[in-house]
Amino acid sequence: MASSSKGKQPAVPATAKHADAENYEMPWVEKYRPLLLSDIVGNSETVERLKVIAEDGNMPHIIISGMPGIGKTTSIHCLAHALLGDAYREGVLELNASDERGIDVVRNKIKSFAQRKVTLPAGRHKIVILDEADSMTAGAQQALRRTMEIYSNTTRFALACNMSNKIIEPIQSRCAILRYSKLRDAEVLKRLQEICEAENVQFNDEGLAALIFTAEGDMRQAINNLQSTWSGFGFVSQDNVFKICDQPHPIVIRGMIKSCQKSEIDEALARIHSLWEQGYAAVDIVTTIFRVVKTMDELPEYTRLEFIRVSWKGDAANVQEIGWTHMRILEGVGTIVQLGAMIARLCRMSLPPDALKL
Ligand SMILES: Nc1ncnc2c1ncn2[C@@H]1O[C@H](COP(=O)(O)OP(=O)(O)OP(=O)(O)O)[C@@H](O)[C@H]1O
Ligand SMILES: [Mg+2]
Repeated sequence: MASSSKGKQPAVPATAKHADAENYEMPWVEKYRPLLLSDIVGNSETVERLKVIAEDGNMPHIIISGMPGIGKTTSIHCLAHALLGDAYREGVLELNASDERGIDVVRNKIKSFAQRKVTLPAGRHKIVILDEADSMTAGAQQALRRTMEIYSNTTRFALACNMSNKIIEPIQSRCAILRYSKLRDAEVLKRLQEICEAENVQFNDEGLAALIFTAEGDMRQAINNLQSTWSGFGFVSQDNVFKICDQPHPIVIRGMIKSCQKSEIDEALARIHSLWEQGYAAVDIVTTIFRVVKTMDELPEYTRLEFIRVSWKGDAANVQEIGWTHMRILEGVGTIVQLGAMIARLCRMSLPPDALKL
């Protein structure tokens, strides 16, 4: 399969080295990196558009943007393979953030690639893949503008980035922008189950749920954590996953929120102190609290909203709960005092209205 030797060099696509011997001890994220557009999980509408482009052959310049680990680089590679097949090796120039991509490279390397004559399947174009394009300097992006236009009859550009606003406007206006969203829990779950089956992983449902909880829609992280848990403990259970991910255990947080709901401040403070003493960072604690509260069905919706919100009461005393504490921590005030104050406010909110009157 890997020896389709058309022309002088064997055209082995970089990502298609899937002979079994080579899979040995490959990280699972690479081993299970989709090779075809149809294998990409989630963002189905956008992936459908890519499939149409692959069939049609006339690829526009594209930018794919979105969070890490949701399949942007993979999609671009799949698209390029679908378009160029065996001609991938000659027809694609890939540059990512680890390559030099200053103005000189744009002027020389990209331009000379665009000028080069290559035999491609009929109606196809050479493709320049600029991965992690948001790390290119504005100067280098400026240098791309005209190149993209002048050579557009033979060369098309595919950019991937986390933040599309770091791509200068003129380039955005030359491209079709595809936005990938975080993967849904069910989508990550399905993929994890497939991998567990293929690798014969022992797991229970809570273990997979914990992987999904910690990954927050990032497939790469979910797969990596799955592999680490499996190779570290030999069983994927909730506890093992949280040991690997080293985040505060949602069950502890859940208990703490319940104490807040009952206004049991001593109990709630004791729990947050114990998390603090175990060495968890304030930002990890507060983000886990947010995610637990968000999905805690036992809390009435009203209470959940009150706990999460950042709200203002009149112009003086403001009630600032989880969101506000998060903001302060990000500003650098990640102390136990902030966390304790948040707990105290959550407890106070759960008191009957007249309990605080003197
Ligand atoms: N949508 C997806 N379907 C299947 N596997 C996926 C998907 N997204 C990510 N993965 C897995 O995660 C790995 C990393 O994906 P990829 O390199 O495409 O991420 P990315 O979106 O480019 O992230 P980054 O912004 O960090 O570059 C892949 O090798 C694959 O195993
Ligand atoms: Mg990438």
